[in-house]
Amino acid sequence: ERESTVSITVFGASGDLAKKKIFPILFALYYEGCLPKHFTIFGYARSKMTDSELRTLVGNTLTCRIDKRENCSEKMEQFLERCFYHCGQYDSEQNLAELDKKLKEHEAGRSANRLFYLSIPPNIFIDVVKSASKSASSKNGWTRVIVEKPFGRDSESSAALTRGLKQYLQEDQIFRIDHYLAKELVENLSILRFSNLVFEPLWSRQYIRNVQLIFSEDFGTEGRGGYFDNYGIIRDIMQNHLLQILAIFAMETPVSLDAEDIKNEKVKVLRSMKPLQLENVVIGQYKSHTKAGVSYPGYTDDNTVPECSLTPTFAAAALFIDNARWDGVPFLMKAGKALHTKRVTNELVIRVQPDEAIYLKVNNKIPGLEMRLDRSNLNLLYASRYSKEIPDAYERLLLDAIEGERRLFIRSDELDAAWKLFTPLLKEMEEKKITPELYPYGSRGPVGAHYLAAKYNIRWGDLSASEESSLK
Ligand code: BG6
Repeated sequence: ERESTVSITVFGASGDLAKKKIFPILFALYYEGCLPKHFTIFGYARSKMTDSELRTLVGNTLTCRIDKRENCSEKMEQFLERCFYHCGQYDSEQNLAELDKKLKEHEAGRSANRLFYLSIPPNIFIDVVKSASKSASSKNGWTRVIVEKPFGRDSESSAALTRGLKQYLQEDQIFRIDHYLAKELVENLSILRFSNLVFEPLWSRQYIRNVQLIFSEDFGTEGRGGYFDNYGIIRDIMQNHLLQILAIFAMETPVSLDAEDIKNEKVKVLRSMKPLQLENVVIGQYKSHTKAGVSYPGYTDDNTVPECSLTPTFAAAALFIDNARWDGVPFLMKAGKALHTKRVTNELVIRVQPDEAIYLKVNNKIPGLEMRLDRSNLNLLYASRYSKEIPDAYERLLLDAIEGERRLFIRSDELDAAWKLFTPLLKEMEEKKITPELYPYGSRGPVGAHYLAAKYNIRWGDLSASEESSLK
């Protein structure tokens, strides 16, 4: 059999994501010996740059894992020798044909697999895909395309994007990233649930009173205001990252752990969700705040954000699944920027980040002669159990894309179902110009979130009782 080779082209090579994530991750995979024997990496962008300038740029972004300093600089050199640059317009079939020529030289007659990573704004996805599929797709191997959100901003624009991509690509060539799916603890969720007999029987309305999905960041949208203001926290975090975790948490047992079987179950549970009501949603926006002499900017203080912006930087929502397993169980979601971070009775906590952990809060007796109760954690702290560093989510995603493993990527019907849930709400909010409740930078978020949970007799798990009462 003919030897095969993989060429990875990063469109938007001089951008932030490429520098921060894609190149360092490709190097980490190379270091681990996970990349195929024959591979070539091409950066592609509009600015003029030589191969050696690209290597300098990429070289500056590379680091070695703390536990693996050995041979590091040698490996970096070898890696950089496999990196090249091609300057071109994103919609030019001719420029892509030039890239094709260069790729062919490197592929040297081997069977040629090609991966295109679109690290560019979504309004030029279709341009690139069109010209790449015409001029630079592989003739004797696979061609795959990695894309990242935003996948539109509602059902219609997302469907239009999918239609556009599918003019030139088959569904199984499109790898849509939701990087939360590749986080170690999200991956572990199915294992925890399906490989431990103690949990699965409890996983329903019979024993679970509520499920909470909490995302909180202690920094604002500084520097990303231009992007963020057009999307807001519901589109940025809830419609994708949190909803994906919810789907994996709540789906029925899949026929197998194969990609398509899992996606079929995820789509089913997403389609079983009740329409989201405006009265079950609270939105907020952070305002400036001065603490201990340091002043933190408000969302609208950012020059790229309109002064009167109504874009939410915080949202809380109560969602319901209309099926036998979850009937009546509130799924509370909360996502916010510029919050105070405190991480997320009998409570099972799956802490995705930081300090990955799984723990179960149990009641126990305090040792001694009296009968006094205490609450303790049965604990799995990843840092104490495993000395191994946890790989970045993108490492797994890139490797899976090279290997054609589609489990962690979003299929178009999953994306449609996710948009279908949020689009009517987003439209109603925008039409009615719902004003977000202001909350100070670094605070616990708007009080409305507390009332929303209280409506269902629930307390947020990431706030202590005294913090809850101080919000009232
Ligand atoms: C991105 C969002 O998808 O996820 C950002 O656009 C957010 O707003 C980021 O900060 C969080 O990802 P992580 O991996 O840093 O938790």
